[in-house]
Amino acid sequence: MAVLEGKRVLLGVSGSISAYKAADLVSQLGKLGAVVHVVLTQNATQFVGVSTFRALSRNAVLTDTFEEPDTQRIAHIDLAQSADLVLVAPATANILAKMAHGIADDMLTTCLLATPSSTPLLVAPAMNTQMWHHPATVDNVATLTARGIQLVPPGSGLLACQDVGEGKLADIADIVAAVTQALTVSQTLEGQHLLITAGATREPLDPVRFLTNRSSGKMGYALASEAVRRGARVTLVSGVSTQPPPNGVHLIPVETAQEMLQVCLNTLPNVTGIIAAAAVADYRPAEAMPHKIKKQEGESDFTLRLTPNTDIIAELGRKKSDNVKSIGFAAETQNLLQNATTKLERKNLDMIVVNDVLQEGAGFEVDTNIVTFAWRDGRTLALPKLSKAEVSKRILDAFESL
Ligand code: CTP
Repeated sequence: MAVLEGKRVLLGVSGSISAYKAADLVSQLGKLGAVVHVVLTQNATQFVGVSTFRALSRNAVLTDTFEEPDTQRIAHIDLAQSADLVLVAPATANILAKMAHGIADDMLTTCLLATPSSTPLLVAPAMNTQMWHHPATVDNVATLTARGIQLVPPGSGLLACQDVGEGKLADIADIVAAVTQALTVSQTLEGQHLLITAGATREPLDPVRFLTNRSSGKMGYALASEAVRRGARVTLVSGVSTQPPPNGVHLIPVETAQEMLQVCLNTLPNVTGIIAAAAVADYRPAEAMPHKIKKQEGESDFTLRLTPNTDIIAELGRKKSDNVKSIGFAAETQNLLQNATTKLERKNLDMIVVNDVLQEGAGFEVDTNIVTFAWRDGRTLALPKLSKAEVSKRILDAFESL
């Protein structure tokens, strides 16, 4: 079987003189079995024609946001969400700037914005040396790499503008190698079934109101994607999340902590590992009112009575067998390691991932995290600020060595 058999690659080509080299890229990826869908910017069409890519990829090539070859689907969402990997080659300074700032003003940038954060995204820049070293480009590349985007760095040499320096599109062979490596992760979790909790629970007060928290589900969804990539079967029990469902994951959406507990208990007998990344409400309203709570005339305060929720991971920790390894998270604002160690014991975890949610670039909603791992034997490992995709790799490496 070809090494990329059936893998769907969305290739974005932007307006660099090296756009013609992307034709060879499509051809080589196709020979490895990949199904390539090409999207060109308008500027790219100045350098190389749509029909070249259509013939090489044997797929429709899109250049305009409003081109909809299949009226049943919205092309930019469909292309972005069905891709196993997204590659921008060549990537101009302009498209890097748009990606860094979330600008979506054409078909390619709209696809890029609609790409789930769990999908590997590679960029192979190509531009004049001055543009590559411009502080704006340097900042944009730093933003993108912090978000987990993988760079296939440009090479040095004689550029089209006759300058000699950095900025040449990487060799096509190196880009193909980076794609192959990103798509063919060794199946180190084959045979494992992981239960992963993610997102925020919602605890209803009445039919229109609820208590919740700031979790986006990004960390849990990144873990689920990475575990699937490593060959695991994954049941993702998710509260509210801003993330699209990762490919290949069995997603069970839930709303309340009680629902999450029930689904987790039902799944527990089949699993070999647990990772609890959900932000579960510790309390729920003692009564969820069947009708909307109305303001009372002359009322000076309103008392909400809460009742504790079961600690899901602790309950799973009590019920699981010893060979089922479990990893929990600790969101802390002070006495990080001390609080985390207490949770490690109390919840019968094998490892805990601690983050100081007050630090910039850590915790809720952002794409990066700054975490420390702590184990039962007292070992700890502090990691630098990394993308959530990278943190999920480190967590699964640690899970594999438990
Ligand atoms: N957790 C859980 N069920 C709960 C509360 C938390 O499964 N009802 C899990 C979370 O998914 C996380 C870990 O427990 O893996 C720690 O969550 P955290 O909010 O940091 O701690 P709490 O146990 O809620 O303690 P506290 O709020 O006092 O810090």
